[in-house]
This record gives sequence, structure tokens and C-alpha cells, in this order.
Amino acid sequence: MNDNLHQLRCFGCGDRISGSDAHPDFRCAHCGDLFEVEYAGWSQRQGSNRPNPGALKWLWRERRCSSEALDQSGVWRFRELLPILDNFGNAVTLREGNTPLYALTRAAKALGIDQLYAKHQGMNPTGSFKDTGMTAAMSVAKERGFEWVACASTGNTSAAMAAYAARAGLRSLVLIPEGKIAWGKLSQAMDYGAVTCQLKTDFDGCVKVLTQIVQEAPIYLLNSVNPYRLEGQKTPACEIAEAFDWNVPDHLIVPGGNLANSSALGKGFRELKDLGLVARMPHISVIQAAGANPLARSFATSDGAKLEPVEAHTRASAIRIGNPASWRKAARVIHETGGWCLDVTETEIAIAKAELGAEGLGCEPASAVTLAGLKKLRAGGKIGPSDSVVLMLTGHTLKDADYTIDFHQGTLLKENELAGHEKEIDELRRNAVAVEATPAAVLAAMKGNAG
Ligand code: F0G
Repeated sequence: MNDNLHQLRCFGCGDRISGSDAHPDFRCAHCGDLFEVEYAGWSQRQGSNRPNPGALKWLWRERRCSSEALDQSGVWRFRELLPILDNFGNAVTLREGNTPLYALTRAAKALGIDQLYAKHQGMNPTGSFKDTGMTAAMSVAKERGFEWVACASTGNTSAAMAAYAARAGLRSLVLIPEGKIAWGKLSQAMDYGAVTCQLKTDFDGCVKVLTQIVQEAPIYLLNSVNPYRLEGQKTPACEIAEAFDWNVPDHLIVPGGNLANSSALGKGFRELKDLGLVARMPHISVIQAAGANPLARSFATSDGAKLEPVEAHTRASAIRIGNPASWRKAARVIHETGGWCLDVTETEIAIAKAELGAEGLGCEPASAVTLAGLKKLRAGGKIGPSDSVVLMLTGHTLKDADYTIDFHQGTLLKENELAGHEKEIDELRRNAVAVEATPAAVLAAMKGNAG
């Protein structure tokens, strides 16, 4: 069986090549830009190989009742939208995707919005949205016969890559910035058997080193410059559209780091629209941390036309990225959907994260930028009370437990960051208290926290 129907198109110069002709660093030989996977004819009504939209909706839902591994994956359930393998039997899956869409009732009430949801990608097998992309690109690596795969990472990509490589029987190499990733994520790479190198540089420095390595050794690069990653990461668009009965929400809010995820979700909704599965795309907005905000700056100064890399600083370590690879793709998505790009402060991130925790969801700090960004968009009148909004929560709260404990113990934020927010933060903080081992002391502690 040959399921493979794709080619790669350069995002910069439009050059088309076959998937197997890509350079090891996935940069275009002519202009150096990134590639996108393209399926010929999908955007034309009579296009060749164009799947039948009505039949797909039925088939995808039906697969949820199947006991086949591929059907149980929330990525491969939609495999007609990612015909990237010669044989789908080569897919490496941990049953990723099919993540919950939770109503955020308290935040909705506080913000005066009728419909607010969180798509919790932290509920994936390794605890982040990276699994959806990794299943796709790791399957390609396996099918093409690579023995080694590698990535530079702020932690989640490496956790996902190490797990999927182990499942595929491949060796994996992880480059991470020393001392700058959350312990939970580092422990995952070790547990799944990766060769983990901590480099004395930042994420952007790790990318540079790895780009040189893959040109010298037969190692398959699994950073998000690999266009197959985005094919998996676009599938939450299908899940969201399906959950809304194929009427998309008005707004989708996504954290921005290396900017692949926003690009992938935009591609997903664009293809659903091209294929006639949905009538429109949601407004897709990207939120960055103020200390790692090259795209937000780019939108503020040149409407997303030029990007100056920055030296990145934020406690949301997953998005501590100053020179994002996929910024042009993300800028296109924001323009095309009428979304926005904003940044939020460390204090705003910490408060939003605690609010999500208090709704019983929790997420890692990088994910909480979405709620902090929504507050700004709502206050600025960009989002109205009757708009439906989905926040992409990208990582599980246990990924970075230190951050959460520091917040609740009151050691996370500095005095200047607390200024003006003391009351709000005090109300959210729930520090663990040392209590004598008697019922009276425990009951007294409960009274003290009754509010
Ligand atoms: N949220 C989390 C939890 C992340 O781990 C990342 C990126 C992002 C958001 C941003 O997504 O890069 O596609 O814009 N983490 C990468 C990593 C860079 O190495 O794990 P993006």
C-alpha cells in the first residue's frame, strides 16, 4: 500500500521537492526558509486526491469506537489529513491526542464571556502537545530507516522525542540548555533512554549546535523545522472543529515559543476549510512572555514583517526562546485569521496559572500565557462577550512543579513584580501549612482557609 501523497513546498520561495530530498536541516537549498507539507489539489474543488469531506466526518467519529491502535490515536484517527507515510503500518503511536476540551466556567464568568474552553494538550502521553507532532515525524524517521533522531529542546520536545524513539526502537540525542529546563522534563528524557547533553548555552544556542551535527552525521532532526512535526500538531484543529460540530470557535489562543504550534494549528484549520469541512477559520492569536517576545515586538513595530531575535528571559522555561524558527509561518496565520500577537508579564502569567489551577485544571506556566493574553484581548475589546474562545493549554502542571510550589510559598515573584497585585495573589496562594497531628489543629487550619 502506498498512502503517501505529499510533497514539500518552501514557505519562502515556493520551490517544491519530494519529501526524501529535504536537506538534513530542513532548510530550502535556494532561500534557506522552511518547508511545509503540501497535498496537491486539496484547495481546488475538483482537485486530485481530494478526500470527501462528508465521508471523513463520519469515518473519523466512527474510529473512536475502534480497538485498532491507529484509530485510537487522536492524530492517526485523522490520517486522511496527513498522508505522509508510504505505509500507515509504520506509524509509531502512544495513543496521543483525543485530549479533553474543558469548559472554564469561573474564568468565563470573571471575564464576562459566554463560552470559554481549554483544550488540554497536557493530557497527552508525555504530558505535552509535542506528542501529536512527534508521532508523525518519528513515524517518518522510522519509515526512512534512520537509527538516530535528535532535537534541541526547552524540555517538552525532548521528553516526547525520547519516548517515541524508545517505542520505535531508535536511539535519541537530546540537547538542552544547562540548568534552564524544568526537572520533570529532564527526568523524562533520562527515563526514556535518550543520550541527554546539557550545553552551556540557551535554547537558541542548542539549535545552532544541532544544526551542524545533523549535517555531519546521519541523524534525523526532530525539531519543529521538520515539517512532519506540524502535520501531527495540526490535528487538534480537527478535534476542536469536531467538538464544535464543525462550527469552529471564534477565537483560538496559543502560546508562542518557537512558533510551530500556532503555525500548525493554522495549517490544520486552513486545510479543513479548503476541504470544505468547516466554513471559516477561528481568529488565531499568539501570546508570548514579555521577556521572550520577538514576535510580539515584530507585530508592534512592523506588523509581523521583520523579526529581531532577543535574548530570552522568562520563568516559563518552555517558551524561553529568542529566535523562533517558524515566525514567518505564525505571522501568516495571525494575518490570515485576523488574530493578534501580544506579550504578558511574569506576574500576569503566574496569576493566570494559579487561576487555571483553582479551576481544577492546572498547566505549566507557558500554557498560562493564553489566559493572561485573553484577559488583555478582552479588556482591549478584541474579544466580545458572545464570542466563543478556546485556550490551548500545552503542558501538564506536573511538568514544572517547582514553579507552582514557589508561587504558593510566595517565593516566585520579586517585590517589584508583586507591586499592585498583592491582594489578588494572596487570594490565589494556598501554601501547605505545618500542623500538629491533632484533629483540633487540622480543623483550625481549615477555618483559617475558609475564604
Ligand atoms: N508550551 C509548551 C508547554 C512548550 O513546551 C512549548 C515549546 C510551547 C508552548 C511553544 O510552542 O514552540 O511551537 O511556539 N516547547 C519547545 C520544546 C520549544 O523544546 O519543548 P512553539
